[in-house]
Amino acid sequence: MHIRITAGFFALLLFAVSPTRAQSSVAQTPPMGWNSWNHFACKVTAADVRGAADAIAKNGMKEAGYLYVNVDDCWQGTRDEEGHIRPNENLGDMKALADYVHSKGLKFGIYSSPGPRTCAGFEGSYQHEEQDAQTYAAWGVDYLKYDWCSASEVYPVSQIRDVYKKMHDALQRTGRPIVYSLCQYGWELVWRWGPEVGGNLWRTTGDIEDRYESMTKIGFGQAGLEPFAGPGHWNDPDMLEIGNGGMSSDEYITHMTLWCLLAAPLLAGNDLTRVTPVDLAILLNKEAIAVDQDPKGVQGHRLSAEGPLEVWAKPLADGSVAVGFFSRAGSYPAKVSVKDLGFTGAVHVRDLWLHKDVGTFDGEYRAQVPRHGAVLVRIWK
Ligand code: GLA
Repeated sequence: MHIRITAGFFALLLFAVSPTRAQSSVAQTPPMGWNSWNHFACKVTAADVRGAADAIAKNGMKEAGYLYVNVDDCWQGTRDEEGHIRPNENLGDMKALADYVHSKGLKFGIYSSPGPRTCAGFEGSYQHEEQDAQTYAAWGVDYLKYDWCSASEVYPVSQIRDVYKKMHDALQRTGRPIVYSLCQYGWELVWRWGPEVGGNLWRTTGDIEDRYESMTKIGFGQAGLEPFAGPGHWNDPDMLEIGNGGMSSDEYITHMTLWCLLAAPLLAGNDLTRVTPVDLAILLNKEAIAVDQDPKGVQGHRLSAEGPLEVWAKPLADGSVAVGFFSRAGSYPAKVSVKDLGFTGAVHVRDLWLHKDVGTFDGEYRAQVPRHGAVLVRIWK
């Protein structure tokens, strides 16, 4: 009995003094959900957010793991006389919106900036960090994206870590588990210190656009960042553009395949009330999602790049390896040697887009990759 009390006491003490403790229970796998920015930008309304929550609850995305429904920039109104932030008329009552999202069995996310203004010029959290964290917790917020934006006007970049830690500590004091998403475009090699300031994920680059060149520049540009990702703390190559109309289906398959191999957060960024069956099927590929959400939490790495062909691999918890083949130009045959994956002898291969076992291979596995497309397989002994 005495021993149990002592152990409990020390666990409590550890909880109280460890700065990243409160958030350590969240984001054990890369966060999944939806965010308003890529499609709705500053036009977002409460109806759009409710529509996204309704769609996710009905179209299979919730079962597939898409849980966070996140409002990005442009929800803010003015502060009241005591400094409490209020939403603008497009969003209305944030507590009611959070309650609605929660009523669907989903989680609710919000956005702010450490600067006086957000990137779109709305009210930021500068000098209101503690108060805003308390407000978010009272509304029932489960996720905060904290976007640097105008913070450069009030802080030298050398203070960036302290600035991010300040909001983390304020969130922690609310006692509510809140996923903390750092957005400062990869400045100051954020992956090296993101976890220390309590970040559960951090953007590694500037903003994604709904174009193949933008998506692949960011996605393939993640090579080398794999040592910095793991359960509770992830590199964030930005949100998904699948379904926004600027890319072909093969290009969106590349987007999904690459993000899953990267153990990237999967935040859909399209209008889910109008998603086509083809785009929805890409978002709902459970075998690809299982690669992203694998509990081992290893970010995939580039095995080879030869001309337009790239081969990436991600080791999984059950000893299998997910392998992605990409062609950044024409349609080409690609191959991976079984030895390069750490196997000897014959291995089994399953195609995760065709959803079928494609046989047993010895020595080398070859795949024909469409132009701007991808093939994703799982290989095991
Ligand atoms: C920055 C971020 C984007 C988005 C906008 C909103 O550009 O990187 O993801 O949040 O701000 O203004």
